[in-house]
Amino acid sequence: MPRRTGWIVGLIAGVLLGGLGSSTSGHTPIASRFTYNEHLFPVFERQCGSCHIDGGVAPMSLLTYQEAFPWTQSIREEVLGLRMPPWKAEDGFGEFLNGHVLPAHELDMILEWSSGGYPQGPRDQSPTPPSPSETWALGAPSLDLTLSEPFLIDAGTSEVIRYFSVSTELDIDRWVTGIDVLPGSRAVVRHVSVYIDDTGQASAADAADPSPGFDTGFDAGSPIAVWWPGQDLIKLDSAGYALPAGADLVARVVYKKTWITEGQAFTDQTRIGVHLADEAVDTITHTVVNSPDQVTTRELRFSYTINDSVTLLGLLPEVAVAASELQVEGILPDGSREPLLLIREPDPDWPTRYWFDSPHALPSGSAIEVTATLRGGADQQAVPSLFSSTAPVRLLVDYTTGAAAAN
Ligand code: HEC
Repeated sequence: MPRRTGWIVGLIAGVLLGGLGSSTSGHTPIASRFTYNEHLFPVFERQCGSCHIDGGVAPMSLLTYQEAFPWTQSIREEVLGLRMPPWKAEDGFGEFLNGHVLPAHELDMILEWSSGGYPQGPRDQSPTPPSPSETWALGAPSLDLTLSEPFLIDAGTSEVIRYFSVSTELDIDRWVTGIDVLPGSRAVVRHVSVYIDDTGQASAADAADPSPGFDTGFDAGSPIAVWWPGQDLIKLDSAGYALPAGADLVARVVYKKTWITEGQAFTDQTRIGVHLADEAVDTITHTVVNSPDQVTTRELRFSYTINDSVTLLGLLPEVAVAASELQVEGILPDGSREPLLLIREPDPDWPTRYWFDSPHALPSGSAIEVTATLRGGADQQAVPSLFSSTAPVRLLVDYTTGAAAAN
């Protein structure tokens, strides 16, 4: 597997170069073929720059040499520990439109540069740091909905989850094929999930709370979108979430500060861009697959049998125990197995829905099997669920029945 080769090469390079460095008078000699200006900047811009940019959610920009080089050791630890960047689906085990691991050659570049004296490169090639994008990633949406009033995150609040109800004012049934988000205050909007509510309970809760939005939670069902900075957003071609006439959308926004923004006040008024299908498309259904409540073994394995022919579109796992790995496989009625998703070091801070590159057809009688490898003594952590589940490990499965094709 390319990733594994990368690791070994990277680790050997790291040991050699690290050894060279420590044998001199504390100064690491330049032993990296890669320089910031020529090689690392484009990697940091593409893989880290959605958050590590001035005014972004991360505590420091990596988009100038002066800002990046004090962090070289920490960058090395974060990428080796698979904590950064936060998207993780292992290549070669299921194919996805979004959420890939850092490619092996980019990981190698970062490791060689950080242990090889982190050279800047030719001064006349110093890149100009980009400005944060202020445009919709998916193009102009069908509906551009702004949260009704600015919400204040006061200086004393480090982290808060807030729900906002927004009316779609649609008088006919439609299908949502994609959701885009433009955060109002990008330094503190960590992630946003979006729900459909046709019961009126969210707008009633919003109206009852004197401040913008509400925090009592609500029986949200399952999110139709999960957004955080830099995720590749998906717009489906021939499938969508049913949006009944008169329904509201509900945005669940997680605001979180870092040690840089701690103690500052922010106001946020995020915008939600909704893409609607022009004609009827296949309706996406969700199922939640829950693990048993009691975790007694190092390996937690559970499955769910599907009594219908379905086309899988995406998977959104949540892991509320310390786990080193999460694997999802499809088991066909003849017993053969299909790899669906493999995540190492799952991180509850960055919930991700992984969209299949091409839809997976599973005939009636197939099962979806989840295996989580837990760390010893793994106690359940209080990880709020985006789909109201309390199981230690849970998986939201999005599918259509019938021969749908997403793209
Ligand atoms: C989706 C946003 C996002 C992306 C993409 C991202 N980071 Fe981060 N990073 C963060 C946040 C937020 C933190 C602060 C820790 C926290 O609150 O989770 C962080 C922390 C870090 C830290 C540790 C800083 C400290 O305080 O010790 C390093 C190093 C780092 N990131 C490197 C990277 C690198 C290198 C990449 C790209 C390969 C990357 N990150 C991609 C959001 C991101």
